[in-house]
Amino acid sequence: MNYKRSILVTGAAGFIGSHVVRLFVNKYPDYHIINLDKLTYCGNLANLTDVEDKPNYTFVKADICDYEKMLAVFKTYKIDGVIHLAAESHVDRSIKDPFVFARTNVMGTLSLLQAARVTWDGDWENKLFYHVSTDEVYGALEFDKTLFTETTPYDPHSPYSASKASSDHFVRAYYDTYGMPIVISNCSNNYGPYQFPEKLIPLFINNIRHKKPLPVYGKGENVRDWLYVVDHARAIDLVFHKGKIRDTYNIGGFNEWTNIDLIKVIIKTVDEQLGNAPGTSDNLITYVKDRAGHDLRYAIDSTKIKNELGWEPSLQFEEGIAKTVAWYLENQEWMDNITSGEYEKYYEEMYADR
Ligand code: NAD
Ligand code: TYD
Repeated sequence: MNYKRSILVTGAAGFIGSHVVRLFVNKYPDYHIINLDKLTYCGNLANLTDVEDKPNYTFVKADICDYEKMLAVFKTYKIDGVIHLAAESHVDRSIKDPFVFARTNVMGTLSLLQAARVTWDGDWENKLFYHVSTDEVYGALEFDKTLFTETTPYDPHSPYSASKASSDHFVRAYYDTYGMPIVISNCSNNYGPYQFPEKLIPLFINNIRHKKPLPVYGKGENVRDWLYVVDHARAIDLVFHKGKIRDTYNIGGFNEWTNIDLIKVIIKTVDEQLGNAPGTSDNLITYVKDRAGHDLRYAIDSTKIKNELGWEPSLQFEEGIAKTVAWYLENQEWMDNITSGEYEKYYEEMYADR
């Protein structure tokens, strides 16, 4: 079949990428969607079983740092659009092992950019390199009313956010230096199905189910702005198709929670859905040593994407959390496949000093 577009989605065996691929494969049958993923510890093809047999979907196992391979993929599939999500994404891991974050997030992004530039060779018509980034590049806010806007200066604090900030700069440099069409979005914390259970929400849902302690970093007073992942995927669709070249779009939920308040909502929802009496799991809350350099508050001003592209979150938080808890409780096999064996050992070692 002659496809209208051939889009490389990197890191789509991960959490957000799998939702992006699901949306694009189903919504655009005339696009060829190529999921390129190295399948690191958090890449999981079980996140995409419902689309794996679709004719317009192809999976390629590869490392974005492998420049020769990236060149070959661009040529083989005649890639004209990139949605780049592949990354090392967990702050705690970046504190333990910053090198792999620089390798994948900085050098890997550079390798993809260069493969795109060399393949497209100045013919920029209908080409786009879309880089998916994070609000963490802006640093941390105080407990006040300020929000991150698209013009907030970069001030990353963790090795993770420093590596993402660096990759954002490289992406803009490819427009400024070579004229390559790029667009960037910076999103707040996502939650929803298929998130790797080292992140707060799936980890805590699973721990409550197994009556395991819930490790709250510090006093649990840090604030995050939570967005349902399917709403992020919808925003990515809009930015990819309608975003202005070289522009940045902030994406967020206008949905700020202190960790401890959020954790209480999770406990209440899981207890309700498991049929436990109210308060059953409250005693699992365990305050532990704080994360090094723990950013106090993230909060996104997403006025620009609302005004320019008409995007808004579609789900109320209570509805999103209820759906998310239900999904994890109904998909125990998915969870057990991840949390048993090697990963369990890793997790215990990783958090041994807390
Ligand atoms: P994830 O960790 O769930 O998935 C990352 C994917 O990238 C995995 O499938 C992994 O196998 C793949 N990958 C890692 N290294 C690779 C390499 N060298 N080559 C090819 N593939 C590789 O991450 P996520 O939460 O889905 O995040 C996706 C992107 O969105 C990241 O760039 C992240 O910075 C950004 N982001 C995430 C959030 C969030 O809340 N999760 C918020 C804003 C932005
Ligand atoms: P996380 O899901 O790791 O996302 P990020 O660090 O990118 O915001 O963490 C969300 C918040 O929850 C963050 O403030 C750290 C905190 N947290 C805990 O208190 N305990 C945990 O076990 C984890 C994983 C996170």
